[in-house]
Amino acid sequence: MSSIEEIKARIDIADLVSETVQLRRAGKNFTGLCPFHSNTRTPSFVVFPDSGTWRCFGQCNEGGDVFKFVMKKEGWDFPEALRRLAERAGVQLRAPSPMEQAAKEQHTRLRELLEATTTFFRQQLLSSEAGKAALGYIRGRGLSDATIEAFGLGYAPGSFNTLSDYLADKGYSPAEMLEAGVASERDGRHYDRFRNRLIFPIRDSGGRMAGFGARALRDGDQPKYLNSPQTPLFDKGALLYGLDRARKTIRDEDQAVLVEGYMDVIGLHQAGFSNAVSPMGTAINEGQLRVLKRLSKRIVLALDPDAAGNQATLRGLQVARQALDREEEIVFDARGLLRHEARLQADIRVITLPPDTDPDELVQSDPQAWPRLLAAARPVVEHVMLSLAAGQDLNDPKTKRSLAEQVMPLIGDLPSPIERDTYTQKLARLLQVDERSLVSERPARQPASRPRRRPATEAAQAAEATNTDPNFKLEKHILAVIIRTPELLYRVNRSLQQAKLPRLSSGDFQHSEMQEMFRLSLESLEQDLLEPSSYALQNLPLPLLDRADEMLLNSQEIDPNAERVFEDLLRSILMLRRRNLSASNEQMRYLQAAAQEEGDLKASEYAQVMLQNTLTLQRLDKALAGDRKLASTR
Ligand code: UTP
Ligand code: MN
Repeated sequence: MSSIEEIKARIDIADLVSETVQLRRAGKNFTGLCPFHSNTRTPSFVVFPDSGTWRCFGQCNEGGDVFKFVMKKEGWDFPEALRRLAERAGVQLRAPSPMEQAAKEQHTRLRELLEATTTFFRQQLLSSEAGKAALGYIRGRGLSDATIEAFGLGYAPGSFNTLSDYLADKGYSPAEMLEAGVASERDGRHYDRFRNRLIFPIRDSGGRMAGFGARALRDGDQPKYLNSPQTPLFDKGALLYGLDRARKTIRDEDQAVLVEGYMDVIGLHQAGFSNAVSPMGTAINEGQLRVLKRLSKRIVLALDPDAAGNQATLRGLQVARQALDREEEIVFDARGLLRHEARLQADIRVITLPPDTDPDELVQSDPQAWPRLLAAARPVVEHVMLSLAAGQDLNDPKTKRSLAEQVMPLIGDLPSPIERDTYTQKLARLLQVDERSLVSERPARQPASRPRRRPATEAAQAAEATNTDPNFKLEKHILAVIIRTPELLYRVNRSLQQAKLPRLSSGDFQHSEMQEMFRLSLESLEQDLLEPSSYALQNLPLPLLDRADEMLLNSQEIDPNAERVFEDLLRSILMLRRRNLSASNEQMRYLQAAAQEEGDLKASEYAQVMLQNTLTLQRLDKALAGDRKLASTR
């Protein structure tokens, strides 16, 4: 049994769920109010102890296993959920290699050092004579004691060795202080990096210490903000300040707000807007957006008005577009030819702040202004169009062309054809050109790069596993192929759409580890640093890597062009869906019977779901009957 299965076997899902949701028995299952959507009447949430799964049949129409439950509930990602549930179940995750072990131990030691440093800075702020001025300063900026406590703010004294002495007392070596980024070195001498500064501890999204931001307290001290240097724990391009405290709200409210500074994040959180995060003095980059988009696809950028039109900002938006999910859509071009276009599955908006105000000052002077500004956030196309046009000579054909070139790709990203038309018209009016000339300017999409040919083998024999759950086998089989050749997903989705069936999604898989592998496969298609197949493998958490090894063992090398592999994959997906729907119908029948016994109104709702299931089943059967034909469409 893999450690993942062991965790599932040891944790009783009804126990776990009932810690936070009040459950009522319904036959051999349990029902309750769904914790994931606001609803106080209909118990649409069902727990199935037999399969170790749950599902909301109401608004969410989502379900999964224990991992998925805590991921949704706590806003954890899969590795985090794995760690926590392994601990709860008392399951030892596979021992890491000596190198991984050494790195982990070093990280743990550095984190402890940083925690000790945070404690030291806090003591200095709250109880030292020198800290009084710093405390007065932040209180003067409107921060409450609760906020100061929640964000763990501190004070670094002016001397060159108070911290070093404190840490040396605790057994840390100068080399470790350097490594953690709290000390600097010159001519072989070590000294405290942060002096006479207000300290902002920076944690990773899981709340673990990563580094510090430090604001000068005396006018003229440069730089105004001094951050930790790059260390094994502090990668400023990958961290977002405040994310540890914001992630749950970002999920719950399905919106993330990006602001520029530490004080803005803190001020907004204090005013009750706890979905704000900020980069650390750098422009927002792709890694940070990748982290955010997992929590929400609705991202609002709160920009400094001076910077709003500048090149760095526009580049930031470009990065945002590249980092976010794209979904294939079938379109017809001017000549009626079928094309596949990828549209951005994200809603990026921009708010421009009033001149010379930070969000921090704004919420303090007028708390109502912030939600108003957010509501008035402009779609990115509109923002870019206007800021590019500002101060330009729009009569110059070269200017027109350059503007069109920059704006048309953004328009092409919009998911709705109505929006695309509207913005094309707007741009045409702005540039005083004919709309048709803009459309022809639209860059043709690059064809997806052809995967390298690999020696062909039989893919269909993959995944002869020990597990007896037939769906589990099927899920593993499907993912063994996909994780190897994520490129096949394009074709799979096209065929599914032609059969009027939804795209393959993580919801097709019941097991969280499979959902995670699927997610990584999708992600692998959006990056271009690595071959898609290596990307997914490199990013799998350890226990999943074991699982993937086991799955790949049998599937060996797959030729993505081999027709048989594709047909087999498609057929497997259709079968999996078929089984899932039948299983769902069976669950429904149980629930319906239980509901009828108690004269519960829910009975008719279950019937409704069954009807939907049956309709989809018919479509699936049709597709399965004709799947050779389906598979032959390229
Ligand atoms: P600001 O100077 O706008 O910071 O820089 P702020 O938060 O409004 O500062 P206050 O309100 O005067 O205290 C915005 C962000 O840019 C980074 C920091 O992350 C800061 O929060 N920054 C700024 C640096 O990293 N280094 C600097 O020297 C200045
Ligand atoms: Mn400020």
